[in-house]
Amino acid sequence: MEDCTFVIFGATGNLAKIKLLPALYRLDAADRLPAGLRVVGFGRRDWDDARWRQQVHEWLADKQPDATVLARFLERLHFYQGDLGDEAAYGGLSTFLAEAHYSPNLIFYMAISPADFGRVSRQLGAVGLSDEDGGWSRLVIEKPFGYDLESAESLNARLNRDFQESQIFRIDHYLGKGTIQNVLVFRFANLMLEPLWNRNYIDHVQITHSESLGTEGRAGYYDTSGALRDMIQSHLLQLLTLVAMEPPANLDAESLRDEKVKVLRSIRPIHQSAVNAHAFRAQYVGGRVDGAKVPGYLEEPDVPPTSVTETYAAFKLYIDNWRWRNVPFYLRTGKRMRKNNSMVSIRFKHPPQQLFRETHIERLKPNWILMNLQPHDCIRLEMQVKQQGLEMRAETTRLDASYCGIAQAQLDAYEALLLDVIDGDHSLFLRYDEVSWAWRVVDPVLKVWSTERDFIHTYPSGTWGPKEAERLLERQDQRWRNTLEEEGGE
Ligand SMILES: NC(=O)c1ccc[n+]([C@@H]2O[C@H](COP(=O)([O-])OP(=O)(O)OC[C@H]3O[C@@H](n4cnc5c(N)ncnc54)[C@H](OP(=O)(O)O)[C@@H]3O)[C@@H](O)[C@H]2O)c1
Repeated sequence: MEDCTFVIFGATGNLAKIKLLPALYRLDAADRLPAGLRVVGFGRRDWDDARWRQQVHEWLADKQPDATVLARFLERLHFYQGDLGDEAAYGGLSTFLAEAHYSPNLIFYMAISPADFGRVSRQLGAVGLSDEDGGWSRLVIEKPFGYDLESAESLNARLNRDFQESQIFRIDHYLGKGTIQNVLVFRFANLMLEPLWNRNYIDHVQITHSESLGTEGRAGYYDTSGALRDMIQSHLLQLLTLVAMEPPANLDAESLRDEKVKVLRSIRPIHQSAVNAHAFRAQYVGGRVDGAKVPGYLEEPDVPPTSVTETYAAFKLYIDNWRWRNVPFYLRTGKRMRKNNSMVSIRFKHPPQQLFRETHIERLKPNWILMNLQPHDCIRLEMQVKQQGLEMRAETTRLDASYCGIAQAQLDAYEALLLDVIDGDHSLFLRYDEVSWAWRVVDPVLKVWSTERDFIHTYPSGTWGPKEAERLLERQDQRWRNTLEEEGGE
């Protein structure tokens, strides 16, 4: 792995504190960082190296750091004082990097407000820091990438003035989770699934991400975003592409991303007049989560009293290709739901012949494949077997694969993603056409919702969301699958 200089814009912010520095420290502890890697924190505070190192030391205190590794890690850190809005700061940064003789391979990590992405990249370009003459130069962008299709296009055009697509790494930390990559391994490393993975055998697919937390002090940001932008446009559509894609020619970044884009392009567009048949939104009101009383969304600090921002969104999509035509994909996410859970639930069709009709088995339950991503890394198959006893009765049995029941290891998605940036591997990062097609899927809904500002459905905190969302389900025998434990539909 080549040496490089890792510049963090927003070195004093929340993302740097909770994700970036801990991930870099853990990589150092695992001996995965190149010896000559330096971390330069760019910030406007009147700090020097010693002050920033002290801050990072405090941030890492609860990670039980090893004293020797910590000392080595802190040595890598340097602080560069500058204001994002000050053009001279970029020239100063360029001189600082050159005079310090750090590696000319540069990573610029945008841990700053999305509103600043464009101007920072422009200034980096203006002082030659995006050039790749002496070494490579990479730009890492946090989500959200745009606010809708139009703003994403314009941001991309701004970035492309100075950075080529091959230099840009758009992070979706969801894709860095090992469990998400397990979807690919499960599908493409097991021959027995592939013949069944299509419209002939699959009734429908559900992709659910539920959180018991509310907006946790980020309501100011959340109120301008909402569940559809925050989760569905990005993470859940990404997950859908992994579940639905064709096997790629190989595992290189372009082959993988080509197949994901094909899925997004095949999603049947939602006409504005059909938005209500395909999408549902709601907002939480007060309730109880894990026995504790919690306030409603409108009572959270920084939320305008008339806000109709959705904290819950459900979507029904169809993928118009040979494999999936007319199989509904239900995507659903919510805050202040009963439990934290991320799960892909695949319901199979009933066998073509009701062979057991004359027995006590009146109606067989269908097979399900459940891929639980959080809080457990688990794949479960639900099958019907005969109950013990003289009668011909069936019951559901569960075949558990992988590490069901064990809480996820302490590894964080950011570690894998940061290593990939250093390595120049784009596989787990979003190419611009993925972002753009994902915006096209949700844009009609965003447009309609932005005009309907006088009413939003509600659901009590601590529940699985509003009952009315069931209207998206195509048939009466389909129902939401919330957790691994609960039984599937008929
Ligand atoms: N936090 C998360 O968990 C999370 C998760 C996913 C994505 N993100 C994305 O990550 C990015 C950063 O989020 P965050 O939560 O870390 O935000 P944050 O806590 O508000 O941090 C913003 C950082 O930008 C710095 N900054 C602001 N204006 C500046 C200026 N004029 N000159 C120099 N520095 C300036 C701040 O410096 P001061 O400390 O001096 O104010 C701070 O270090 C955003 O794009 C966000 O959407 C965050």
